[in-house]
Amino acid sequence: MLTELAPQAPDKIMALMAAFRDDPPADKIDLGVGVYKDATGHTPVMQAVKAAERRLINAQDTKTYVGFSGDPAFCDALSRLVLGDARPADRLAMAATPGGTGAIRQGLELVRMAAPGARLWLSMPTWPNHPAIAAYLGIETVPYRYFDAEAGAVDVAAMMEDLSRVAAGDVVMLHGCCHNPTGANLKLAQWREVADLLIERGAIPFVDIAYQGFGDGLDADAAGLREMAGRVPEMLIAASCSKNFGIYRERTGLLLAIARTAAALGVTQGALATLNRLNFSFPPDHGARVVQMILDDADLRADWAAELEAVRVGMLDLRATLAEALRTRTGSDRFGFLAAHRGMFSLLPASPDQVEALRRDHGVYMVADGRINIAGLSARSVPVLADAIVSVGV
Ligand code: LMR
Repeated sequence: MLTELAPQAPDKIMALMAAFRDDPPADKIDLGVGVYKDATGHTPVMQAVKAAERRLINAQDTKTYVGFSGDPAFCDALSRLVLGDARPADRLAMAATPGGTGAIRQGLELVRMAAPGARLWLSMPTWPNHPAIAAYLGIETVPYRYFDAEAGAVDVAAMMEDLSRVAAGDVVMLHGCCHNPTGANLKLAQWREVADLLIERGAIPFVDIAYQGFGDGLDADAAGLREMAGRVPEMLIAASCSKNFGIYRERTGLLLAIARTAAALGVTQGALATLNRLNFSFPPDHGARVVQMILDDADLRADWAAELEAVRVGMLDLRATLAEALRTRTGSDRFGFLAAHRGMFSLLPASPDQVEALRRDHGVYMVADGRINIAGLSARSVPVLADAIVSVGV
């Protein structure tokens, strides 16, 4: 049987992470996988997470099963962080999932269960795991134009033109903030326009929010998604705690499903619980409990929010410094988009050959499409990167 298996293509982002680790030590710069790093290149455990973990270890007296949908207190706390005042409590079904990827997978399984013929619209470009999971589940995907590489910005007119062709019952994936891989985001008024269009067409938004707090702040980053949640009849949201709580390996995420009516809530919640049961029975608990403790404790929450804010501001500084370094070296504003973008990622207009030359000749590792992780930079490496970009002719 196993001899019949076809080899699977390696995950490009994870392969890059391994290549960086295995290459001989030199002055190399890792701008690959979307993981926050401090100025020393370390991914620290946040203080509030450490404190909550200590409390948890002292207080926890059982590790028996919780429920298929996870700890309700976690679902409640994280859904409030994501949805704020736009939280439609009487129409909101939720299930904890193994990370944001788990939420996307479970959300797409829910789509397939509810509407087997529904198509999934994906931004061009998008996080490669979106189309990969959809293909694995046999869900047809349709790309919509999103990023204008020349302008380094969202091409809203092209996006709206493409989305005007969505069919009733189709699902449209949107990045809640800090678009991966481009870093270019919709403005609030544009979220409203997209919401209006999807309502008119009878399509369902599926918002992937994996970087809340990394762009313009915790509330600002969720403003578009909240605007949408307040208007559309149905919506799916995949939320991740990997980045904003720095608990990548704990696999902590949440799938939120806004049902059309309060009457449909019970069946939707039952479907989420069943899908969890079928795939892994119970979602991981440790990270979820840590997140819930932080969000529901005023001191821990303040400490966490302050540390997250410092991370956010640090990335903005790095963006501004890199844009300035490139302005000085090229005498043009061609890279000005770097300062305007938000979150961990931006897309350099680099060809695959230039990406390869950056790695081979300058020890700079980035995803083949030219995506760089701003958090992989430091004040010391910004000028090195700027010189390398200019030298390979990007
Ligand atoms: C990324 O895009 O680098 C992150 O979301 C990590 C991942 O799982 O790919």
